[in-house]
Amino acid sequence: MHKGEVIAEKGNILIVDDKLANLKVLESTLEQQGYRVRKAINGSMALMGATAEPPDLVLLDIKMPDMDGYEVCQKLKSHPKTTEIPVIFLSALDDVLDKVRAFNVGGIDYITKPFQTEEILVRVQNQLQIRHLQRQLQAQNQHLSELNQELTRSNQELEQFAYVVSHDLKQPLQVILGFAKLLHKDHQASSESKLTQGLAQIVKSSTRMQQLIDDLLAYSRVGAKNLELQLIDCNIVLTQVLEDLQVTIQDSQATIDYDSLPTVLADETQLTELLQNLICNAIKFCPQERSPHVKISAQQQDREWLFEVRDNGIGIAPDNCDRIFQMFQRLHNHSEYPGTGIGLATCKKIVERHGGRIWVESEFGKGTSFYFTIPVSI
Ligand SMILES: Nc1ncnc2c1ncn2[C@@H]1O[C@H](COP(=O)(O)OP(=O)(O)OP(=O)(O)O)[C@@H](O)[C@H]1O
Ligand SMILES: [Mg+2]
Repeated sequence: MHKGEVIAEKGNILIVDDKLANLKVLESTLEQQGYRVRKAINGSMALMGATAEPPDLVLLDIKMPDMDGYEVCQKLKSHPKTTEIPVIFLSALDDVLDKVRAFNVGGIDYITKPFQTEEILVRVQNQLQIRHLQRQLQAQNQHLSELNQELTRSNQELEQFAYVVSHDLKQPLQVILGFAKLLHKDHQASSESKLTQGLAQIVKSSTRMQQLIDDLLAYSRVGAKNLELQLIDCNIVLTQVLEDLQVTIQDSQATIDYDSLPTVLADETQLTELLQNLICNAIKFCPQERSPHVKISAQQQDREWLFEVRDNGIGIAPDNCDRIFQMFQRLHNHSEYPGTGIGLATCKKIVERHGGRIWVESEFGKGTSFYFTIPVSI
C-alpha cells in the first residue's frame, strides 16, 4: 500500500481561512496525524475546491472578506455534491460568534482560536467518525432497500404463480371429480359404455394434470437449483435432444437441419431443456398439410452467441409475440395442439439465468424464428 492511500483513508480535510498563519498551523497539526489537507484562502476558492473534489470535512473560518463563513456554509449545504460534508466553524475569541446562526446554516461544531491542538484533533476525529458511520448506514440502507425490492418482486411472482397454478390445476381436477361422482352414483345402474366413457375421461384429465405438475416442477427447478456452469459443446447437447425426440421427428416426418454449434458456458441440463422445448414447439406448431422443417444455427455477435431455431410452421401474430413467454399463455386450445403453456416460460427463465435474452420473430402462416443469446465464455 502507498503512503498516499493510508492518508486518503484517514480523511480528506479542507481548511478555509483568509489568514495564512492559521492555515499553516492547522495544516501541519492535521498532516502530522496523517490527514490529507487542502487549503483555501477565501469562500469562492473553498466552494470550487469542495465541489470539484468533495472533502470528508471542512474547517471554515467565519470572518473572511467578501464571503463570510456563514454564507460559504449555506452554499455548501445547498449544493447536492457538498450538502452532506460536515462543517466545523473556526472563530477567534474576540469574534462575536453567532452560534445559533452557525448551526442554522448547517455547521456541526465550532472551534475557537487560538487553537488547542488536542481540541482540534478530538473534534475533527469525532466528526469524521460520525461521517464514516453515516456513510456505512447509508450503504446498508441502500443494500436493504435493494433486497426489499427484490423480495417484493419475487413475492409478486410467487403470488401470480400460485394464482395461475391453482386456476389451471382446478379445471382437470373438476372433470376428474365430476366423472368420479357420476360413476359412483350410477354404479349399480350403469351400462358398460357409460363406465368406459367416464373412466376414459378420468384417465385423460389425470394425465393432463400430471403433465401440468411435471412441467410446473421443471419450471420451478430452473429457479431453485444453483446453476452448474461448465463448458458445453452445444453439438453434443443437440445430438442428445434429437435422439430423445426421435419418435416425434419420425411421426411428424420432420426434417431437422443444423450448423456446427459453439461451445458455451452453461448448465447442461438447462441448455438441453431449452433446445428441447424450442425444437418441440417448432415441430408441433406446424399445419397438418406441411412437414415440419426446422433449422438450428448460431453465430457470434460481439460478446454473445446468437442462437436461432427456425421453423416453417403456423407462425405467430405480432400481437402475441410477447405474451407467449408468460406462464400458461397458449394461442390454441389443447385439442388443436396439446401442451401446457409452460415450455416458453421455462425457456425464458433458463436464458435469463444464463445472462442472455430470448425473443421471437414470426411471419403469421409461414414460420417462426426463436432467438436466444448466451454470453461468450472467456
Ligand atoms: N414455433 C412456434 N410456432 C407457432 N406458435 C408457437 C411456437 N412456439 C410456441 N408457440 C405458441 O406459444 C404458446 C406457448 O408455447 P409454450 O411452449 O410455452 O407452450 P406449449 O408448447 O403450448 O406447451 P408446453 O408447456 O408443453 O411447451 C404455444 O401454445 C403456441 O401458441
Ligand atoms: Mg412448448
